[in-house]
Amino acid sequence: MDAIVAPAGENTPGLRDWKTWFAAYDDPESPLVKRLAVVQDGIRRALDEAPAGTISVLSLCAGEGRDLIPVLAGHPRRADVRARLIEFDPVIAQVARDAAAVAGLDGVDVVTGDAADQALYGDYAPADLLLLCGIFGNISEADIHNTVSHAAHLTARGGAAIWTRHRHDPAVVPRIHGWFAEAGFADLWQSDADLPTTVYVAANRQEREPAPSPDDEKLFTFIK
Ligand SMILES: C[S@@+](CC[C@H](N)C(=O)[O-])C[C@H]1O[C@@H](n2cnc3c(N)ncnc32)[C@H](O)[C@@H]1O
Repeated sequence: MDAIVAPAGENTPGLRDWKTWFAAYDDPESPLVKRLAVVQDGIRRALDEAPAGTISVLSLCAGEGRDLIPVLAGHPRRADVRARLIEFDPVIAQVARDAAAVAGLDGVDVVTGDAADQALYGDYAPADLLLLCGIFGNISEADIHNTVSHAAHLTARGGAAIWTRHRHDPAVVPRIHGWFAEAGFADLWQSDADLPTTVYVAANRQEREPAPSPDDEKLFTFIK
């Protein structure tokens, strides 16, 4: 499935152009590279620990797929993974699509579209692994709360949500953990406190059987 919502190379008015943001991944000293290492490590662990059978992965605002795709490429469970990556920018989405193709990852489906739109999740939800990376620093707190509440419906029992958030306002991270707890998740792991304040990564495990989403509302809107 490939729901193209904007012609390649054009930006929707009001939406920030994220294409240059990914250049920081090419600087080995950048905090983003440190964050990526933690996220990739967490993805690897989730795949290592997944029970036998199909592993469903849903990545919202997936960008170039730099977290998931390189890990999958070298992982013994790669053939078991069905992943949907949703990215709004058609040019960025194509980078992810090309990376998956180069790695021969037939189970990776990159959709160009609004990752807040639950209709695009299809049968990838409830997912064994839900990636919410690079989102919570760009949406309102109300939308973070709403996304975490919906994560309860989007994550399979025993599955994990890996999420990121900067710590410029240190009070927000504990609130996010609280919302995950309210939504039925246990804390699994979190990144080291000595990382730069732009970096915080955590994983939460869904402890309940997820009910279908109660609504079809959009989960969030980017405000940055
Ligand atoms: C901060 S980057 C994070 C990318 C990736 N998750 C990562 O950590 O490398 C945010 C990404 O979200 C995309 N984006 C913004 N709003 C979106 C939306 N509503 N649906 C899907 N993608 C969106 C941007 O184009 C950008 O690629």
